[in-house]
Amino acid sequence: MSEVVSYELNENIGVISVNNPPVNALAQVVREGILNAINAAQNDASKAIVLVCEGRTFIAGADITEFGKPPKDPGLPEVLAAIENSSKPIVAAIHGTALGGGFEVSLACHYRCAIASAKVGLPEVKLGLLPGAGGTQRVPRLIGVKAALNMITRGDPIAAVKANEMGLLDKVLDCDDVRAGALSYAKKLVDTGASLKRVRDITIDPSSVEIGFFENARKQLAKRARGQIAQDRIVSCLEAAVELPIDKGLERERELFKELITSPESAAMRHIFFAERQAAKIKDLPKDTALRPIKQVAILGGGTMGGGIAMCFANIGIPVLLLEINDEALERGMGIIQKNYAITVQKGKLTEDQMKKRIGLISGTTSYDEISEVDLVIEAVFENLDLKKDVFGKLDATCKQGAILATNTSYQDVNAIAEATSRPGDVVGMHFFSPANVMKLLEVVRGRETANDVLATVMQIGKKIGKVCALSGVCYGFIGNRMLGGYGREAQMLLLDGCTPSQVDSVLEGFGMAMGPLAMGDLAGLDVGYKARQSRTDLPDDPKLYRMGTLLVEMGRHGQKTGSGFYQYDPETRKRMADPDIEALIKEEATKLGVEQRAVSDEEILARCFYPLINEGAKILEEGIAQRASDIDVVYIYGYAFPVAKGGPMHYADSVGLKNVYEKICEFRDRYGEDYWQPAPLIKQLAEEGKTFAEWDRERGVA
Ligand SMILES: NC(=O)c1ccc[n+]([C@@H]2O[C@H](COP(=O)([O-])OP(=O)(O)OC[C@H]3O[C@@H](n4cnc5c(N)ncnc54)[C@H](O)[C@@H]3O)[C@@H](O)[C@H]2O)c1
Repeated sequence: MSEVVSYELNENIGVISVNNPPVNALAQVVREGILNAINAAQNDASKAIVLVCEGRTFIAGADITEFGKPPKDPGLPEVLAAIENSSKPIVAAIHGTALGGGFEVSLACHYRCAIASAKVGLPEVKLGLLPGAGGTQRVPRLIGVKAALNMITRGDPIAAVKANEMGLLDKVLDCDDVRAGALSYAKKLVDTGASLKRVRDITIDPSSVEIGFFENARKQLAKRARGQIAQDRIVSCLEAAVELPIDKGLERERELFKELITSPESAAMRHIFFAERQAAKIKDLPKDTALRPIKQVAILGGGTMGGGIAMCFANIGIPVLLLEINDEALERGMGIIQKNYAITVQKGKLTEDQMKKRIGLISGTTSYDEISEVDLVIEAVFENLDLKKDVFGKLDATCKQGAILATNTSYQDVNAIAEATSRPGDVVGMHFFSPANVMKLLEVVRGRETANDVLATVMQIGKKIGKVCALSGVCYGFIGNRMLGGYGREAQMLLLDGCTPSQVDSVLEGFGMAMGPLAMGDLAGLDVGYKARQSRTDLPDDPKLYRMGTLLVEMGRHGQKTGSGFYQYDPETRKRMADPDIEALIKEEATKLGVEQRAVSDEEILARCFYPLINEGAKILEEGIAQRASDIDVVYIYGYAFPVAKGGPMHYADSVGLKNVYEKICEFRDRYGEDYWQPAPLIKQLAEEGKTFAEWDRERGVA
């Protein structure tokens, strides 16, 4: 039929078999092969046809390497029409994962069966797209509009048993051999004279959709998926499924799919899809680097971070020893962990039994002797270099040889910490983000002497606990926090220039940030930055710098925890409210400092806040602190809630054009001085060459 699709008769069942490793993606040869096989089967002795795949999975989805290239015949809609119009029933036999276009192929079949371990789903939304081959029209016909909306806008895979209960599948096979199971199911269908059941023939009763349903869905999705237009277009497709005949609905779906495939939002999300996979790769690490086994972990410090990190390991069944300074601190730490698990149970995301098992895996201690045999230690004690050095000295004296000694420090020098031991090769940074059991990012910090197998092991264990890992070199604040410096600084400077806190935050929230920088400061505690600034000697001596943040802390307004900061907070709901007193105070301070207040445009707010961040990102690249620009994007998407529809700060800079970014930075330098605005040489170079960060990654062979 084609080099990757075969067809044969098994008694009275025609078997179409796809074999396009690794995931049977729907490449042109696969589409052509299936089409030819269906045509051949129409005129042979078969009474029904089974569509099955070799290897580890059913058709896992579209061939994304074909994206952006001119379409090659036959297109998927043509193949699906041939399946649906077959004169003999076609049974999709699913194992592994039938996702996206793969699942849509099965939806055009007359019957769908799967082995119990299989999963199905329409994940297109995660790439800023919608299922463009009938998924939005056939799924609501099978499971109703509400369930379809949930499934398609979330994009998560659904296990076979659940999919069967929902009505997405007709049968869960009671064996693991998908081919044999599907053959006997197809034979049964033939024997019982089963009909040609086409999903397209199902009609949706418009009265099953309550009035205002689509409008509400749009509102909720706009909140949940900031700036992701695909969500809105999916709602439009479902509206079409209710209101239009299927062929018109399919046309509408195609139109909207075409709009999305060329949208900047989808380009950004596809960038992140690949960036995430790239970030896991360390360019100079041999592929066959042996890993160290991690069977038991110790966490030092059971505070905000330590507790969350302990949960990450218990969640995947690895026993954890939590070491604290005394019994009281230990009890407090364990209490918080238990409370966090209890909340997860309340939300229905964990059973009581699972909770007990996980808590049972975490035990407390106050003695270093007890952690001598663990394979990995993660230190999360107070952020103080001397304390950390002291702790690592003790670890060196107690831990077995070969144990990995990691620090969760946010800012301290990992090399200095490593030097406090006699085994700096075993020391590495594992920088989690708060709350550590929820946030997806793990910055893995490579010290000067960190051994290859330590790095490889940490990257792998990070993935196992569900994190997206990105590698950073050693510098103050590593990738993410180092870049944040100028962002917070400019947010405060803008106040003196004439903005209100709400104006600054709402522009950044309008861009898609989960929270503006000033509201974020209030949430994290303004005293944290205040204290950190006091120990820094590298800041310019400028009374304007962090003026408002400093004043607020001195007034006792530390942010949400004291009920007020840049904003006031409702004590019950924690809702933030503008504070006229603070707005007046900002004006007063500006006058005192001789700053002439003016109307600041939204564009300027965006540029003033983001361009220092991007500029620092470029410096981080030049210095080799980050391996690639796309790693920086991954850090910001998963660690700082940068909107995925914008693709991360470096991708955003590429989309604005580095020449524009560079010119703006120069303009700000001329206006506000070199203390704050010094264009990174790399931005200047790329701007002059007319290149993007992405091109620069590719040129260096790291993309
Ligand atoms: N909070 C955050 O958002 C965040 C994010 C990333 C990284 N970090 C880093 O994680 C580390 C911990 O931060 P946190 O917010 O969890 O602090 P925290 O104050 O909530 O907890 C620190 C805990 O360490 C314990 N501790 C102190 N000295 C100890 C010792 N010698 N041995 C064992 N335990 C000891 C304390 O009793 C306390 O429970 C810091 O290095 C911080 O920079 C924090």
